[in-house]
Amino acid sequence: MKITQAILPVAGLGTRFLPWTKVVPKELLPIGSQPIIAHLVDECISIGIDDICFVISRGKEMIPQYFYAAPALEHELKRRGKHTMLDELKRYDTVRLHVVYQEDQLGDGHAILQAVPWVQSDTIAVLFGDDIIVGDENGLQQLVRAHAGLPAEERTHASVLTLENVPAELTHKYGIADIDPSRSSGRLHRIKGLVEKPAAGEAPSTLGIVGKYLIPRRIFDLLPIVAPSHGGEIRLVDGLIAHLKNGPVYGYEFAGKRYDTGSPEGYKEAVRELG
Ligand code: UTP
Repeated sequence: MKITQAILPVAGLGTRFLPWTKVVPKELLPIGSQPIIAHLVDECISIGIDDICFVISRGKEMIPQYFYAAPALEHELKRRGKHTMLDELKRYDTVRLHVVYQEDQLGDGHAILQAVPWVQSDTIAVLFGDDIIVGDENGLQQLVRAHAGLPAEERTHASVLTLENVPAELTHKYGIADIDPSRSSGRLHRIKGLVEKPAAGEAPSTLGIVGKYLIPRRIFDLLPIVAPSHGGEIRLVDGLIAHLKNGPVYGYEFAGKRYDTGSPEGYKEAVRELG
């Protein structure tokens, strides 16, 4: 099954990067010659996704705009013989871009729900704006390979998410997976429970969820009925917990290094090592 659609929720306020994020979305901060968001769109393209839905908030229109064709500029680059730059700009021409607004920041699950009318596929990729995985394969390539290796009868209704073995003292920052060791093989683990941000002593493991998922359409039916958690937020993890009751959820312990570009420290590290 080819995965062709991805949701990129980027409606968050980016408070950790204030005051910068008053005017520039953090997703447009550069790493190397590209903004963070272009690394994520390239990740989508690397597995053949050609239909992307950005979930944005008011004022973040610059994010999709980065990828739109700019005919006048392209014409001028051609005239000046700047063909390398022209090719760079035209790289995104084959991708269909869709934009929806999340008017109130009511959680990552709520952000995803804004994309429901656009969803057509059985399995959709979801990439949050912060995590970049660098290795022989990017994060999505690893997830797709894991998904393709699932038993055929499970594939259309399975969720597969990326996991990282995090330090025990940091479990309170992650959704933590409770895995079934008898149904784990190599890096792929069958998940039997998920706990949001548990204290070190209460965590069922040190396998934390990082921001890349393949989710089945069914999650979009579950999200509106999960009880909103703290502050009235609808969170994707709660949709996945509901999904555990009637569908398989797998976690893939990715190979490579993850950069959390959503925190100033993680962003600086990414710029130092990838820039
Ligand atoms: P974060 O928890 O990093 O929040 O969201 P944030 O607003 O981006 O940044 P800080 O914490 O205020 O500095 C994780 C991802 O979920 C998206 C964000 O855009 C980011 O990609 N998100 C979160 C939404 O799209 N909507 C929400 O309501 C919450």
